[in-house]
Amino acid sequence: MKIIVIGTGYVGLVTGACLADLGHEVTCFDTDANKIARLKNGEMPIYEPGLEALVLAEVAAKRLGFASGALPIQADTRAVFVAVGTPPSALDHSADLSSVFAVAESIGRASLGPLAVIVKSTVPVGTGEAVERILREVRPELEFDVVSNPEFLREGSALADFHAPDRIVVGTGSPRGRDTLAEIYRPLTDGGAPLVFTERASAEMIKYAANAFLAAKIAFINEIADLCEAADADIEEVSLGVGLDRRIGAAFLRPGPGFGGSCFPKDTEALLATAQSHGVQLRLVESTVAANDGRKRAMGRRVIQAMGGVRGRTLAVLGVTFKAGTDDMRQAPSLPILAALRAAGARLRIFDPEGMGQARAVLPDADYADSAYSCLDGADAALLVTDWPEFAALDLSRVAERMRGDVFVDLRNLFPPDALRAAGLRPFGIGRRSRLAVPQPVRGRAVEDLRQGVAPGPLSPPSSLPSSPASAPASPPVPAGALPEPRPGDLPPLALVAAAKAAKAGLNGHAG
Ligand SMILES: NC(=O)c1ccc[n+]([C@@H]2O[C@H](COP(=O)([O-])OP(=O)(O)OC[C@H]3O[C@@H](n4cnc5c(N)ncnc54)[C@H](O)[C@@H]3O)[C@@H](O)[C@H]2O)c1
Repeated sequence: MKIIVIGTGYVGLVTGACLADLGHEVTCFDTDANKIARLKNGEMPIYEPGLEALVLAEVAAKRLGFASGALPIQADTRAVFVAVGTPPSALDHSADLSSVFAVAESIGRASLGPLAVIVKSTVPVGTGEAVERILREVRPELEFDVVSNPEFLREGSALADFHAPDRIVVGTGSPRGRDTLAEIYRPLTDGGAPLVFTERASAEMIKYAANAFLAAKIAFINEIADLCEAADADIEEVSLGVGLDRRIGAAFLRPGPGFGGSCFPKDTEALLATAQSHGVQLRLVESTVAANDGRKRAMGRRVIQAMGGVRGRTLAVLGVTFKAGTDDMRQAPSLPILAALRAAGARLRIFDPEGMGQARAVLPDADYADSAYSCLDGADAALLVTDWPEFAALDLSRVAERMRGDVFVDLRNLFPPDALRAAGLRPFGIGRRSRLAVPQPVRGRAVEDLRQGVAPGPLSPPSSLPSSPASAPASPPVPAGALPEPRPGDLPPLALVAAAKAAKAGLNGHAG
């Protein structure tokens, strides 16, 4: 089938290349002429595993081409996918649909015959109807089937997700629209992929509901991780035990620095905006957004606490993309965390396997290293934000040797704390028992009590942990007042509970 994909970003380029792989004749179109020129030269504008090889193969097979300028709809083009961005609106948190509507108008003007207009961009319920209205206004005489076909691919495994989807959702009331989509995806459905036909509005809602649920799962396990720290449980054991329940499932039950990326933050906000416009309150989604925002801010403080202050000290940052497997920095949790550390006076040195280009654009005043080990050279502390597989393969003894300090903040629990300790590093993970080693700053005098009463320094390792071996370099002394002055409301109540418990237990030992 002759198909055009409009919008050649993470979704459009993957969709175009994969549809060509299914045997269709695909043109990927974008208003970004520079992006299209690079693609015509065989250069990928994004990093996605396997994408470059697939694009080059499909171009060579003449099933995939690229265009900018005028929309290249021909008389025998039967389907146009809309995969343009739907970022948060500048006015409120609703989805900015201006690109979708602009595309609808240009499809209307360029169309030469009956066409399926397939909206793959994530759009609020009711958008398909608006697109149909625009098409009817521009070309009242032409026949269009406006179909919602939301995308569920995950950056980092997008090609596999396209070829083996959990489901393909097709929302339309038009039998012809259904037939066109069934034909497009037949190679996948013949291989067992479930095709779910729904009303258009339901398909639009499915995408947001799915993303909001996954975001809530992440926010939930992060809250449980906070409770684990306060209550002397270990989140890794808890998430394993919870996730093995088939009614719950292990996916998205990994604790971390909070969700980010180009989808969950904007889609949860956009869902709330939709709910508001319908006079409906989504309390769970509201809480998810609030908990996640608070978490990202809290992560910066966590690093400052672990280091006992960061002013003038060098922090080796391993991974900055919003997750492993992508170069995407949109709404990455690293951004607010690194902003807080920068503001507190830290010197940042960053390494990311694929995200250096995008990182340099958004974090211009950081230093950049060309490998993980060189990033760690002479660093006072290491901060792992993104769990790239190549970081898991690091030799921790070499890591410890390269660093000046011994603090290793692991915001993804990539390393077992014992492995870090065995290498002479002091581990600070998420929701782990070792985390209780960090005295939490509390307001006013209590901070001083905590510091002077028992602890030799603000962040000495707990008595149950081995102190740094002689071979490992000692932490530099912590300057007085290195901990930022806590503001009222700075800490969640649970952190206060942890602090109180740590104080009661003599500070250095595990509470409880
Ligand atoms: N990235 C993901 O993981 C993912 C997953 C599922 C759904 N989605 C949704 O898919 C949509 C696209 O996301 P993305 O990450 O690919 O965005 P993106 O920003 O990577 O790509 C969007 C592309 O659209 C182009 N564009 C914008 N206006 C245009 C116009 N008028 N005509 C032609 N091209 C235009 C831009 O130049 C850009 O290349 C969004 O609605 C997003 O929410 C994204």
